[in-house]
Amino acid sequence: MRKLIDFLKSPAPNGNFFTRSVNALPFKVLVCLLVTGLVVVAGINEYATNKYLNVGYTPDQPVAFDHSFHAGPDSVLGLDCRYCHNFVDRSSHSNVPTSSTCWNCHSQVKPDSPALALIRRSVETGEAVRWVKVHKVPDYVYFNHAVHINRGVSCVECHGRIDQQVVVGQQKSLNMSFCLDCHRNPEQAIRPLDKVTDLSWKAGSEGAQTAQGTKFVHDWKVNPPQSCSGCHR
Ligand code: HEC
Ligand code: HEC
Ligand code: HEC
Ligand code: HEC
Ligand code: HEC
Repeated sequence: MRKLIDFLKSPAPNGNFFTRSVNALPFKVLVCLLVTGLVVVAGINEYATNKYLNVGYTPDQPVAFDHSFHAGPDSVLGLDCRYCHNFVDRSSHSNVPTSSTCWNCHSQVKPDSPALALIRRSVETGEAVRWVKVHKVPDYVYFNHAVHINRGVSCVECHGRIDQQVVVGQQKSLNMSFCLDCHRNPEQAIRPLDKVTDLSWKAGSEGAQTAQGTKFVHDWKVNPPQSCSGCHR
């Protein structure tokens, strides 16, 4: 910066053929840098607040699929999340099911319902239904589902009570401090592995959660990353 200003102030080598306004250049450069800086700070601030992160974002979906009827032990059908999201404990990305998964039942149950017309057509043509994605983290964030599920972190921690939602909406902010709050105190969240998809499950009291969570953290050597490179690779 100093060098740049000195350079801009220094007289031209072959006499003074620049106009006087050149002297204002360092000042203009400084103002530009200041303004840019302010815009960046404002941008980060905007980004870091929940407004941008879409808590409550509940887009219309092409088919009126109802989790509260189909999914979770408390629902009418009682399907496990992994019946449909079957890669969630095996891969970094959680899949949304193909229409053939729906057709396991709906080839028998209400196959001619207008509410299932898009699914029926999708099964016939092989063309996927265009579900609207609800939860997103920016591309510069590394996230892995399987790592969390296999350490007893339940879907409910990051998605809320999906099993009570008729239409899926975003319930948790998924911003950086949200992730870090748990990474600093994972014992408050970790539960037995066979309860990760039971969203209403509770350890009992808060004290019981801390006690068993602390034991899991110890036994499984749980150590979630807190350094920048852990989540920004
Ligand atoms: C019968 C199949 C089925 C079951 C069982 C099921 N889901 Fe889903 N899930 C879907 C479909 C289809 C979508 C995409 C449409 C939508 O958002 O409703 C979806 C969407 C989602 C989304 C939003 C994805 C996004 O775009 O961000 C989450 C989160 C989710 N499911 C979690 C769960 C959880 C947690 C359970 C268990 C309690 C569960 N699901 C059980 C079929 C299922
Ligand atoms: C385990 C069996 C099963 C699976 C798998 C299943 N459903 Fe269903 N679904 C049902 C039953 C049972 C009903 C209630 C039918 C009734 O009201 O008589 C239903 C109802 C529905 C309805 C309401 C239909 C109407 O006309 O009222 C829609 C829409 C629907 N399911 C979509 C889906 C989608 C999309 C998938 C795949 C992501 C799916 N279902 C997977 C069993 C299933
Ligand atoms: C530790 C937090 C966390 C947990 C636990 C978690 N998820 Fe997610 N989930 C996320 C984040 C973050 C995203 C957005 C990822 C992205 O940007 O692609 C997401 C996205 C999804 C999607 C949308 C995938 C897509 O590309 O459309 C589905 C479906 C989903 N999760 C299902 C589940 C299910 C089912 C469980 C439990 C078995 C679960 N998640 C547990 C944080 C979590
Ligand atoms: C409710 C608790 C909880 C929340 C919320 C949570 N995590 Fe984690 N995270 C964990 C645990 C537990 C582990 C496993 C650590 C271990 O195995 O040592 C983990 C591990 C990770 C890892 C290491 C993965 C690897 O391959 O080594 C990354 C990256 C990560 N989390 C990113 C995120 C991001 C990004 C978010 C927010 C969108 C998030 N986590 C939210 C508990 C959580
Ligand atoms: C546990 C995971 C995790 C760790 C560790 C982490 N970040 Fe992040 N970071 C995130 C997530 C998730 C976002 C996206 C937040 C959003 O969408 O606003 C983010 C966003 C950011 C942004 C964009 C601006 C903002 O605040 O949203 C910056 C800059 C950033 N991180 C820097 C860092 C630095 C520096 C460190 C180390 C001190 C760090 N991060 C550690 C998860 C993490």
